[in-house]
Amino acid sequence: MNIHENVSLKPYNTFGLDVQAKYFIEIKNLNDLKEIVKANKSDKLFILGGGSNMLLTQDINKIVVKLDLQGISVVEDSDNYVLVEAQAGENWHEFVLWCIEHNYGGVENLSLIPGNVGTTPIQNIGAYGVEIKDVMHSCKALNVKTLEIVEFTNAQCEFGYRESIFKNELKDQYILISTTYRLTKENHSLKIEYGAIKGELEANNITSPTIKDISDAVIAIRESKLPNPKEIGNSGSFFKNPIVDKETFLRLQNGYPSMPHYIVSENEVKIPAGWLIETSGFKGYRLGDAGVHTQQALVLVNYGKAEGIQIKKLSETIQREVFNLFGIKIDAEVNIF
Ligand code: EPU
Repeated sequence: MNIHENVSLKPYNTFGLDVQAKYFIEIKNLNDLKEIVKANKSDKLFILGGGSNMLLTQDINKIVVKLDLQGISVVEDSDNYVLVEAQAGENWHEFVLWCIEHNYGGVENLSLIPGNVGTTPIQNIGAYGVEIKDVMHSCKALNVKTLEIVEFTNAQCEFGYRESIFKNELKDQYILISTTYRLTKENHSLKIEYGAIKGELEANNITSPTIKDISDAVIAIRESKLPNPKEIGNSGSFFKNPIVDKETFLRLQNGYPSMPHYIVSENEVKIPAGWLIETSGFKGYRLGDAGVHTQQALVLVNYGKAEGIQIKKLSETIQREVFNLFGIKIDAEVNIF
């Protein structure tokens, strides 16, 4: 195992922030992972996946462990479905493309989401009507204290909107090493109700879409709305969409009759943070190299040389202004270090 000193993390976070890791190690197998975890207290380790959901505001004075466990395998094959296990370091989008190539359905709506497989259950990634909780069968994780590998069922992950047990009760106690998905082999249950997908399929005259058609539609929609982290540093949605009670919703709707919203339950309504931020006047806002994306106000961007702390300050200004205008608190979705 090679531990490197003073390594720039710029290539390892999708915001493209140039902070230094005091120590850096790439881990390609489970034994090496166990060894490094055994030899160091967990608070000395900083586990890094695809770096797509983090804002680094300072140098990391720890051992940054870049999880690079690779491999995709079918672990169960029945007439109607397959269970496919992917190791944590596999790139998520490459995995989606692999599923489509094999005609395994279920993850096509989640095409082009940046990041690695290992982090998908942690924040229950979701897009265009599908969340990881809808397709995940189980996942395996290393207990950082006992070094045991524990398997979690879908129910044990306690999934919620961008939430799981790994962000709450079990935070920092486990390292996700693999995830198993239950995918359809035929009679795929396609999710095309989402307006933008419907529109994209119609525009291409597709009336009986395949999972590949859906993936292509999602890729086209994302490319038109979301900045490519390879060109403009970003971390996808910076904030979560807030969920408010019915009373708050009705008060807001009174002032903004065309406000988009989704009913979550009898007394809960989700409001798009992108709309709140745009209506607060921040869409396309730029301060130095830190900015709010021009097409999707939910996404904060680094135009080149922004520092993490500037992006953090911008996010706090946005939170304050949205609160002043609407009385709603919007929480960051990305992890800030
Ligand atoms: N909207 C605006 N202005 C904006 C952005 C959005 O008015 O700048 C409005 C849209 O017009 C639409 C509504 O807000 O009426 C919702 O917008 P959109 O469909 O683009 O989705 P979102 O709620 O902004 C969520 C996810 C995205 C995911 C999309 C599509 C969260 C935090 N974000 O965004 O996830 O791709 O839905 O399903 O839930 C991510 O997590 O990184 C991510 C990109």
